[in-house]
Amino acid sequence: MLDVTKTVREFAVEVPQATRLFEKLGIDYCCGGGKSLSDACVQAKVSIDEVLQHLASAPSEKNETDWNTAELADLVSHIITKHHAYVRQELPRLEALLNKVASKHGERHPELVRMQALFASLQSELLSHLMKEEQILFPYVAECERALQSSGRMRPPMFGTVKNPIHMMELEHDSTGDTIKEMWAISTGFTSPEDGCFSFKTLYQGLKEFEADLHEHIHLENNILFPRAIALESHTH
Ligand SMILES: [Fe+2]
Ligand SMILES: [Fe+2]
Repeated sequence: MLDVTKTVREFAVEVPQATRLFEKLGIDYCCGGGKSLSDACVQAKVSIDEVLQHLASAPSEKNETDWNTAELADLVSHIITKHHAYVRQELPRLEALLNKVASKHGERHPELVRMQALFASLQSELLSHLMKEEQILFPYVAECERALQSSGRMRPPMFGTVKNPIHMMELEHDSTGDTIKEMWAISTGFTSPEDGCFSFKTLYQGLKEFEADLHEHIHLENNILFPRAIALESHTH
């Protein structure tokens, strides 16, 4: 029996396939994952009974890694090779498309001007965010794990405790989440207009996929990597 008072985050972590279902239904499972499933369903205007039915019958994918138990070094490298690489590849492609579409359709679709401003801030926020994770947070987490596998002890880091960079990364996730939410809202869910050309459709399709990938990426960090890193660190000193 699934407990509806559990948070969306708990379902996302514990139930295989839950994130896919939440993504499809527009249930926020990364930055807003602290809500109970019943509240989140009300907010997303979906039936709680249907969601529970889907969750209870979701098949578990046998070949998928369980990130709740995998080594954190593997989780970190999965995040970098799958999600960070994707962000770095997509940002310049989407930027070029957006500029092209805005120069052609900006007069009839003034939301594109706002979209350009939002995209620019998304791009600069995300690029510096990925760098901080890759240069400071992730190597430290992997180092904690290695220390535990050998001596079990390590010197405290210059940032005091892993909770500090994690808190900063979570704030940045919230901010990025807000930016992409506004992009979603001004484009009515990344729906290209009737008169939109092929590039317009390609742009909005690309942004839709980018948003879905970002949700999965932030879910892996906020809901799995960060709590596991805090627990791991507590065993090293
Ligand atoms: Fe990341
Ligand atoms: Fe992140």
